[in-house]
Amino acid sequence: MTRVFSGIKPTGNVHLGNVLGALVHWVDDQHRADSIYCVVDLHALTVQQDPAELRQTTFRLAQALLAIGLDPSVCTLFVQSHVHEHAELAWLMECTASHGELSRMTQFKDKSTKAGQGFVSGGLFTYPALMAADILLYDTNQVPVGDDQRQHVELTRDVAERFNSRYGPTFVIPEATFPTTGARVMDLQDPTSKMSKSQDHAPGTILLLDEPKTIEKKFKRAVTDTESEVRFDLAAKPGVSNLLSILGAATGRTPEQAAVGYTQYGPLKADTAAAVIERLAPIQARYAELGRDPSELTRTLAAGAAKATEIAAPTLARAQANIGLLPPNSSTSVVVGVL
Ligand code: TYM
Repeated sequence: MTRVFSGIKPTGNVHLGNVLGALVHWVDDQHRADSIYCVVDLHALTVQQDPAELRQTTFRLAQALLAIGLDPSVCTLFVQSHVHEHAELAWLMECTASHGELSRMTQFKDKSTKAGQGFVSGGLFTYPALMAADILLYDTNQVPVGDDQRQHVELTRDVAERFNSRYGPTFVIPEATFPTTGARVMDLQDPTSKMSKSQDHAPGTILLLDEPKTIEKKFKRAVTDTESEVRFDLAAKPGVSNLLSILGAATGRTPEQAAVGYTQYGPLKADTAAAVIERLAPIQARYAELGRDPSELTRTLAAGAAKATEIAAPTLARAQANIGLLPPNSSTSVVVGVL
């Protein structure tokens, strides 16, 4: 059976880009593949976090994933730091990825440039090696992600191939999968930048828990252009194309199909808002319901971590043995045999 793995960082609030670009596909995938999903809290540490807030955000994100439709009786859902194999394999991956490869990662370049003279952690630079470890620990075949993670999954493939060729067959080579619509949801105020969690209170970001009135207001103010023709044209009309992509993704159509019948921006904005409100309403209701029994979520995450460890531990042991780390209980003959 195909194995699927994906992760999401507990930073800020879940937004519409996460939902349409990744999470609704996780829900679909869990019924056709052996699916493992992870709240990647170690990845959040690349920037300084408030400890209490990080714990909250991690828990609330797991709650949101269940609300969106992950079913822990079908898939495996866990928190990354509960499975220590991630951090351990990450070191082996850091030693297999080159400095040049990590320097070429556009997310690192963007984020470190934005930080300017401010603090840039070493973890921000080595982050893709941890992401490679996340994926490779589970003998993953497919990694469903939004477009912004393409380069990281490519690096994972390169590192896995290098490790296998240096030390013998160890890792399954994964491939990224992207949704046909919604892979790149853009900021409503700046449709040339992707919608992102760091824009939390920004008018261009629709949050999973935004109220209907807020959603309507944000779409009403969405940036379009001075023409009035409604057509999907990413280069010439990024704002309108983003609305069409969102409307299409929220209603199961292509952006071109979603464009049919519109001659003005006003109705397009109103209908896109309505479609998003309709898509998010049942998720918001389920989120509130799940919040009434936090101990159930704690149990779900513990069971998920135990299931994940059963797969991750042997993979880590295989990688450690193949790279030549001395097993803790090795007999002298193993060592002498090698010498
Ligand atoms: P993260 O937490 O930034 O985003 C989670 C998922 O949401 C997708 N996404 C988007 N899709 C469409 N439009 C957008 N505007 C948008 N913004 C985010 C992301 O592509 C992602 O699929 N490094 C990863 C987390 C990670 C991971 C992994 C993913 C860590 N280990 C292993 C897959 C496999 C990240 O920061 O995603």
